[in-house]
Amino acid sequence: MANVAVVGTQWGDEGKGKVVDLYTEKADIVARFQGGNNAGHTLVVKGRKTILHLIPSGILHDNKICVIGNGVVFDPLVFLQEIEELQQGSLLPPNTKLFVSEKSHLIMPYHRSIDQAREARTSGKKIGTTGRGIGPAYEDKVARTGIRVGDLYEEDLFREKLRQNLEEKNFLLTNYYKDKPLDEEEIATQYLAYGQKIKPYVADTSLILDYEIKQGKKILFEGAQGSHLDIDHGTYPYVTSSNTVSANASCGSGIGPNTISTVVGICKAYTTRVGEGPFPTELKDDIGNHMQQVGQEFGATTGRKRRCGWLDMVLVRQAVRVSGITALAITKLDVLTGLDKLKICVGYESARGQFTYAAPASMRVLSACQPIYEELDGWKEDILYAREMNELPANARKYLKRLEELAEAKIVLVSVGAGREETIILEDPFHNKAP
Ligand code: GDP
Ligand code: IMO
Ligand code: MG
Repeated sequence: MANVAVVGTQWGDEGKGKVVDLYTEKADIVARFQGGNNAGHTLVVKGRKTILHLIPSGILHDNKICVIGNGVVFDPLVFLQEIEELQQGSLLPPNTKLFVSEKSHLIMPYHRSIDQAREARTSGKKIGTTGRGIGPAYEDKVARTGIRVGDLYEEDLFREKLRQNLEEKNFLLTNYYKDKPLDEEEIATQYLAYGQKIKPYVADTSLILDYEIKQGKKILFEGAQGSHLDIDHGTYPYVTSSNTVSANASCGSGIGPNTISTVVGICKAYTTRVGEGPFPTELKDDIGNHMQQVGQEFGATTGRKRRCGWLDMVLVRQAVRVSGITALAITKLDVLTGLDKLKICVGYESARGQFTYAAPASMRVLSACQPIYEELDGWKEDILYAREMNELPANARKYLKRLEELAEAKIVLVSVGAGREETIILEDPFHNKAP
């Protein structure tokens, strides 16, 4: 059984979209299993850029099945808009099918309002969320008051759930956040209409995946966000509200964990973060600016400037452990071209001692950690056209080798540019041998 999960090893935006698009060629099905439209996954094919927030990054390939699993929080308007944009750009291949789980929880207008009102209020302590209602939607799911995609087809029950929710949310919005109340009838009409529009896509996606696995088909699971935004394993509370680690590929799509054979961790050659929270290797100098500008580090969802810093192997090692990563895809190596010296963080120094394999759980301790760096020589040669390892400068290969040693996981792909073809492929994760 050759099913592959792709997950981020840092704080998101590692280049998962590019790698998933590339690996889709080898897969039959691409499935999202967590997060929602807080994600922004960028694909560059033949010079054309497509940013996907909710639809799986396999969508540009024909004859595939794209699945939005039960673990995703689903904004139907974003879904419909994304389909329309793809159609307008003639990017929807004729034979690719798209499904959304009837068990996915809906992102409702009050989720967005609460997310935004909370962020506006807690100035100084904010998380820096994407404001898409992700956290509040997951909160309702766990509180057992959420509304699911399938509820849109039982109008009386849907209206009753909406009424009950709004009673509470409007109280919170008006009394606590001093915000506007939301109108029940308006939301009901809007969402029931979305329900009709999305009906052709709604299915029991767990059954579809199971059926396809039994036919010998290959699934590619597309993680969103990154290991250190995971609700359990990340830099809590500066995290997102779902489990981003590979184990959730199973839970969030409704198939057993034994069906996943390889976990590929996507690791940017340096580190970025959008939003608040500690970032030990952050650079607020010319080198940080180089990474931000050469790497075009702007959030694909919110357009915010991403914070940039040296590669942090404490984070990557932790990601390798918690997601069972055996293969690494290194992205954006080209962005480091031209820097004289490169640093890799191999541990943190703190009053509580050293941390090498795991970041401290306390944000206070993490914020006070000083990175311990190893310094390597950089390279000046343009690497955009490298397609084989031996076409990389010796210093680039040394950097990758050291990364691989520290991660204790082998590198199977090196990305040297945003385009699909700007890639060195060392192994096919579906076959565990060179393609
Ligand atoms: P994701 O959320 O993990 O899918 O990553 P994003 O799409 O948010 O951010 C990655 C950004 O880097 C996108 O703009 C990609 O087009 C771009 N990108 C991906 N790989 C490379 C690479 O190897 N080199 C360069 N220069 N850009 C890349
Ligand atoms: P992709 O899939 C980077 C960050 C937000 C914020 C925190 C919580 O493109 O890698 P949320 O809206 O989820 O409640 O915000 O998580 N965040 C991301 N950062 N990439 C993402 O997705 C992110 N999705 C959420 O910036 O710090
Ligand atoms: Mg992104």
